[in-house]
Amino acid sequence: MCGIVGYIGTQPATEILMAGLERLEYRGYDSAGLATVLEGKIHCIRAKGKLKNLRSKLAEAINPSQIGIGHTRWATHGKPEEYNAHPHLDMTRRVAVVQNGIVENYQELRSELKSKGHEFLSDTDTEVIPHLIAEYLSTTTELDGFFKAVQQTVNRLSGAFAIAVVCADYPDELIVARQQAPLVLGFGQGEFFCASDVTAIVPHTRAVLTLENGEIAKLTPLGVEVYNFKGDRLRKAPRTLDWNPIIVEKQGFRHFMLKEIYEQPGVVRNCLEAYLNSNWHLEDHPNFSPINLGLPPQFSENLEQIQILACGTSWHASLVGKYLLEQLAGIPTMVQYASEFRYAPAPITANTLTIGVTQSGETADTLAALETEKQRRSGLEAKFQARILGITNRPESSLGQIVDRLIDTQAGIEIGVAATKTFVSQLMAFYFLSLDFAYARQTITQEKIAAIIKGLSQLPAQIELILESQERYIEEIAHEFSETKDFIFLGRGINFPIALEGALKLKEVSYIHAEGYPAGEMKHGPIALLDAKVPVVAIAMPGDVYEKVISNAQEAKARDARIIGVSSMNKNEASSIFDNLLSVPAIEEILSPMLTVIPLQLLAYHIAARRGLDVDQPRNLAKSVTVE
Ligand code: G6P
Repeated sequence: MCGIVGYIGTQPATEILMAGLERLEYRGYDSAGLATVLEGKIHCIRAKGKLKNLRSKLAEAINPSQIGIGHTRWATHGKPEEYNAHPHLDMTRRVAVVQNGIVENYQELRSELKSKGHEFLSDTDTEVIPHLIAEYLSTTTELDGFFKAVQQTVNRLSGAFAIAVVCADYPDELIVARQQAPLVLGFGQGEFFCASDVTAIVPHTRAVLTLENGEIAKLTPLGVEVYNFKGDRLRKAPRTLDWNPIIVEKQGFRHFMLKEIYEQPGVVRNCLEAYLNSNWHLEDHPNFSPINLGLPPQFSENLEQIQILACGTSWHASLVGKYLLEQLAGIPTMVQYASEFRYAPAPITANTLTIGVTQSGETADTLAALETEKQRRSGLEAKFQARILGITNRPESSLGQIVDRLIDTQAGIEIGVAATKTFVSQLMAFYFLSLDFAYARQTITQEKIAAIIKGLSQLPAQIELILESQERYIEEIAHEFSETKDFIFLGRGINFPIALEGALKLKEVSYIHAEGYPAGEMKHGPIALLDAKVPVVAIAMPGDVYEKVISNAQEAKARDARIIGVSSMNKNEASSIFDNLLSVPAIEEILSPMLTVIPLQLLAYHIAARRGLDVDQPRNLAKSVTVE
């Protein structure tokens, strides 16, 4: 949700900033801009639309400045027009600011500044920031006046924000601050970086420092100084990331989304390696858990209830998680949209574990919902105390600052806006968590645990098989749907969330309206939508609800709908029910979501690619939603 980047050092800043923005473009792509400082002036250039528009404008405006800031925007306040693009400047064009977040009190600040004669050129909340900084700057002659002015300003802002600021009168200072929106600093040799995400920094250095809420930093060619908003100096040291920049390249795939779909067998292998106790054998070691999540015993002690808070695809993974936690570990589990929970939390219950699921670890609603939970439980008697677990693909993210423990889903950076590999890695986390609890509570037999573990270890090869055998076929049939307006996805039991996820993937990348429904509920409404123009995707895996789903598919077929089955049934059998079969290997029903989601990701991808859409950066979306 907006990406910001900043550079100060010994090289020309423009290209470094542009390359950084390219790596952050997944965060927003409504407009983009850069500001550099050269010969006592700010040089600002902005363009509506994607970064390539900014790049073409830059051709005439490139300069050798060694300091600058950049921004790629996901519009919140004001339309995606050039006049609303960042950086924003003050009236004298001495101060330039980029922001990720929302200044909630901007109306109030704008009125105050207007009464002092300030005029505004945009509809954004951000524009008050350079004006306020300029106002404070005009009253100071101090050597570190710029830093002080930014410090005074951030103390006046409310909301969630991360900012980077340059000033024409202080060409050797880049000031950044963070309050509830992500900001990472990078430490190079005589050069320093800031960015919303480490992806923009790793090509230059792996020494990074994540700024915390309420921190402000001064970056100069000599180093970095970190302070709190009160102005107290803080002692902080960078840590070294073990990331390889190559993982943020497409590596021959047409889109990141397809590359990430293909990475899923490897992701599952990573999770198995990280969290399975490899020396656990049913016969030899019945006395310790087969799962190694490193969770403290008090997480599961007297546990009576679990509540999971998440958004989007993570919410779908959580619904699968609920099924597993209830069916395997016998723990009543509730899943809530974080955006709903934060304003209407469920009543406080005793001995409750709260799980926040967010691949990015930065989703504002999820973080706020978890904070709400933490605060309302603080000071209560022991059984009501918060126990908070995070499930994320980015352990270094803001989520880590809120929760007591994290499960790192080990998927590697995901660039495609539509989540794929992070979804399957979240499912893996839920399998492990449920098995760990099931083992501790003895809710299922050791034999059953061993059987599920065996099934989990076969998943990478089975996913590979689906990719090998189905992609070509799905690509072929995709063109038949390029004009389709509506889709229905049906699933039951543990595959109902997969129907939701299949529909969401299709909506996100192909802009085709799609609804996921529990198959048994179709007759209570959506069946009225069906005719020959509305294809129905039915997930039918052998198990408790197999026959039921097949009957529901037959009901849809009787209304002339084209039926696409995701199933392990053989071709002959399938041909009497389905018009198209997306075949997956036979598997225990409880593990089947790990396979059934794969053809649905491929279907969404190929329909979108066939329609010529920007699969990795769908319109109006952003990968990391850091605003409410
Ligand atoms: C955005 C993304 C979705 C994602 C959701 C939650 O809306 O476009 O793909 O599922 O945020 O993201 P999180 O990082 O919290 O999992």
